[in-house]
Amino acid sequence: MDKKIYITTPIYYVNDIPHIGHAYTTIAADVLARYYKSQNKDVFFLTGTDEHGAKIAEAAEEAGKKPKEFVDSLVPRFEKSWENLNIKYDAFIRTTDTKHEEVVKELVEKLKEKGFVEKRSYEGLYCVGCERYLKEDELVDGKCPDHDKEPIKQSEENYFFLLSKFEDKLKKAIDAGDYEIAPKSRKNEVLGKLEQGLEDVSISRAAVEWGIPFPDDPEQTIYVWIDALINYYSAQKIFDQENIWPPTIHLMAKDILWFHAIVWPALLMALDMELPKKVFAHGFFTIDGKKMSKSVGNVLDPNLMVEKYGADAVRYALLREFPFGEDGDISEEKIAQRYNSELASGLGNLVSRVATMVEKYFLSQIPEIDKDPETHPLRTDSERFTWKDAYKQADEAIENVELHQYCQAINQFITTADKYIDETKPWALAKDDKKDELAWVLYGLCDSIHQLAWLVYPVMPDVSKKIAKAFKIDDLLLEKLDIKKSYQNIKSKTKIEKPEPLFPRLDK
Ligand code: MSP
Repeated sequence: MDKKIYITTPIYYVNDIPHIGHAYTTIAADVLARYYKSQNKDVFFLTGTDEHGAKIAEAAEEAGKKPKEFVDSLVPRFEKSWENLNIKYDAFIRTTDTKHEEVVKELVEKLKEKGFVEKRSYEGLYCVGCERYLKEDELVDGKCPDHDKEPIKQSEENYFFLLSKFEDKLKKAIDAGDYEIAPKSRKNEVLGKLEQGLEDVSISRAAVEWGIPFPDDPEQTIYVWIDALINYYSAQKIFDQENIWPPTIHLMAKDILWFHAIVWPALLMALDMELPKKVFAHGFFTIDGKKMSKSVGNVLDPNLMVEKYGADAVRYALLREFPFGEDGDISEEKIAQRYNSELASGLGNLVSRVATMVEKYFLSQIPEIDKDPETHPLRTDSERFTWKDAYKQADEAIENVELHQYCQAINQFITTADKYIDETKPWALAKDDKKDELAWVLYGLCDSIHQLAWLVYPVMPDVSKKIAKAFKIDDLLLEKLDIKKSYQNIKSKTKIEKPEPLFPRLDK
């Protein structure tokens, strides 16, 4: 059996309901997964929840619930949000799953056996929000800059993983490209930090009860980050996946890149396991220029956005807004703007305009032509950004994980098609009774709509299906699409339907 493409998101802390930041990464992973699936590749797309540790225990206490009861009440909120956003993962992992807990214990045991674990006393500044010790130089005015809170001074006897032993091996592996850290700018940041030297990391907590018991020492629990990282590995056992290792891509934001680009590969090296192929960190976004936080009151609820704009528009608008990999800003207003300018007035309008003209001039049938469709200017034209160019850009966008470029390819082709309509003026051709020219123009536009159905599928799966339904594209093919098949699929004289509005007018 061939190795599957294995795509992961971080497993999110269930101390609260999911916000738009979690949605961003999960949408991105879904776009990659849908793209590869639509190319007939075997894919395993994993997401899930990180359910142990001090942060969760504190949140549970605040809610007046037992930790397990608390996480059980929140997990469905994540599942529901992902469903609302048209996210189709293959498996959802929870770190409180007993099978996961067993694998974590097994691996920690192995680390001990291999001599990579030592017990030491440690004193440091712990940030519960980050679930890690911070260094003095990471603090801003004595506070954790990410959580705006003073870390707690803690001294404990802990078990340590001898991370420092892996400094050279990690450098070599990164240099040799054994695993890729992307984008390049983030890779350089990681390398820069690596140059400053590696310290061993604590992998147990004495003061935290809500966690997996440390092997042979019931006084300690396994540090939540070690527990969490191992989810990528334990998923194989939990979901009976034999051919997914090593992971193709771990997706996350820059906040947790260090754990994925350094701690995780070192753990795998210690365990003689193959390293992930790629670790990709996208940027962090602000909302209306401000850090998203409960106290500022600017936390965007993805479900609310879906209610207002629809899942597909939210997916598109988020990925389109700024380069994937860089920091950026989003706001509801920006989502609404994209909705109006590029989706309602762009894609939606184009599809409905073409369908209306085919209805009016050709009794809803895709026109017959007497020229080679390959020569149609919407398909082959060095002066225009044709649908073939759009595909090329989209494929490259996936290859380089530049998801904004994927959305841009869609939008740019829509602009081409709109411009083509303005130039060729089908209504004038109809008036002058230039039937052949009119057929040629509208055939090319129908062909373009077909292609758009395929092209938009990974980002906007529902919209894609609606277009497919109206333009009579085999729905099943859409799930496993193949550009060559879709190209053959367009047939003159096929009777099309008026599509339902793809992006209805927004109620003010
Ligand atoms: N539980 C750990 C991850 C363990 S993975 C083995 C964790 N959880 S988290 O809930 O804090 O999620 C962090 C991730 O959420 C980020 O890496 C990113 O994927 C997403 N984002 C959270 N806020 C975000 C923004 N403001 N902007 C972009 N992504 C954001 O860390």
